[in-house]
Amino acid sequence: MTGKIIGTGSYAPAYIMDNNELATYVETSDEWIRERTGVARRHIAGEETVSSMAAAAAKAALADAKVEAAEIELIILATNSPDALIPACSCLVQREIGAVNAVCFDITAACTGFVLAYNTAQAYIASGLYKKILIIGSETLSNIIDWSDRGSCILFGDGAGAAVVGASEGTYYTPVAHTDGSKAEALTLTNRFVGNSITKKQETTYTSPEFFMQMDGQAVFKFAVSKVTEVIGEVLEKNNRRPEEIDYFILHQANQRIVEAISRRMKQPIEKYPMNLMDYGNTSSASIPIILSELGRDGTLKPGDRIVIAGFGGGLTWGASIIEW
Ligand code: ACO
Repeated sequence: MTGKIIGTGSYAPAYIMDNNELATYVETSDEWIRERTGVARRHIAGEETVSSMAAAAAKAALADAKVEAAEIELIILATNSPDALIPACSCLVQREIGAVNAVCFDITAACTGFVLAYNTAQAYIASGLYKKILIIGSETLSNIIDWSDRGSCILFGDGAGAAVVGASEGTYYTPVAHTDGSKAEALTLTNRFVGNSITKKQETTYTSPEFFMQMDGQAVFKFAVSKVTEVIGEVLEKNNRRPEEIDYFILHQANQRIVEAISRRMKQPIEKYPMNLMDYGNTSSASIPIILSELGRDGTLKPGDRIVIAGFGGGLTWGASIIEW
């Protein structure tokens, strides 16, 4: 028994901030951001929250899968920017969509969150415990980034993506994931508050760096290029597949240069590495389900396509899984 994605959905806030607007907040330019990252614009939450965007994406995924909310037995929501620590955002999604029979929990694994949510769903299905699981990645990173740090605020955006995973007779692909806590300092957020200086004016001004995501950009870049290439090789080998047998490599949408470097190292054409980061920026846990949903909707992904999804981020954490569409 394996888990198959039977429906996807996504949600992005209405407010779009392009690079030129961003350049009015920090000293940067559209040209610099596009050249170094590929990002042209990003969605930024106004009224939206992690839970509300997740619920909207979940409703779309349920409709796509033709599954009723009451059939869902488990909701796993990956996020780094939860609305609150208690209750978990997945509980609020349950309430909003009416998934009255679902057990709910959130996971935090930086930008690997959705891949680990998928692997967890697979493991539950393989064990026979659950047959229909909703997995979601949702982020309001705009609330946790330092809008005065041009080295990081240019990268990120907000949004949510969801997938319904249903028990199926198809091939079970063993996933691969790793963690290296010794490099935990490369990406941190050690204290928290929720809010930002762009769409949510704060009465209290938080200036201390610990309240914002801190990132060693170059360290993360090097880690991503080498470890993601390695982990894709590992997941292929473990499942006796060659890169040529994979139709698409859907990577966490962090930076166009990272995706291009991995494509070169894998010796697979860049056309097999779809990207939408130019329109969303890095949405962390949400990036893979958003792009999966877009590619599913526009017909790029065809039934039977073999896809590798790969995530990487703070922790450090990274992992890859093979999906049959
Ligand atoms: N606009 C203009 N100039 C800038 C900007 C900016 N936004 N940001 C930095 N610079 C300047 C720097 O000050 C520096 O100037 P100097 O040479 O005078 O000192 C110069 O540009 C080069 O800076 P670098 O930091 O070396 O730039 P780099 O090419 O490494 O690009 C970037 C920075 C885009 C952050 C890159 O390192 C990167 O994408 N890293 C990966 C980050 C990532 O993907 N993080 C997410 C991980 S997923 C997760 O878990 C959340």
